[in-house]
Amino acid sequence: QVAKRAYHEKVINHYESPRNVGSLNKNDPTVGTGLVGSPACGDVMKLQIKVDDNGIIQDVKFKTFGCGSAIASSSFVTEHIKGLSLEQAGQVKNTEIAKELSLPPVKLHCSMLAEDAIRSAIRDYKTKRTALSAATAASE
Ligand code: FES
Ligand code: FES
Repeated sequence: QVAKRAYHEKVINHYESPRNVGSLNKNDPTVGTGLVGSPACGDVMKLQIKVDDNGIIQDVKFKTFGCGSAIASSSFVTEHIKGLSLEQAGQVKNTEIAKELSLPPVKLHCSMLAEDAIRSAIRDYKTKRTALSAATAASE
């Protein structure tokens, strides 16, 4: 019973029916891919964003090889950042995720993984865009 009560309903819900599991084409220039690992436990999370011309996140997919809290955190953030601008998404804090899911303190690093994954996906997207516009400029 104790173990059960330690997890908030929302965590269990996202864990049992995770949203937006899957992959986007990482070679698509409108897709940013974040791949991060947690030094605390070795778990890995991949999070991908598809961004439109206005810098709004249109689609999000994730795959997590990790604990229930990491799966719940990634599932939650995929729903949360869809429709946000890159800037807004980049400001999502792991403490917000943890609070929303009522994660216990020992599971804070799991939500950290989700925050890192968003940042890393945004970075990848921006790097791609820069490379792309440099290439376009060079060919003009
Ligand atoms: Fe790796 Fe949580 S310690 S699953
Ligand atoms: Fe490793 Fe949760 S991500 S214990």
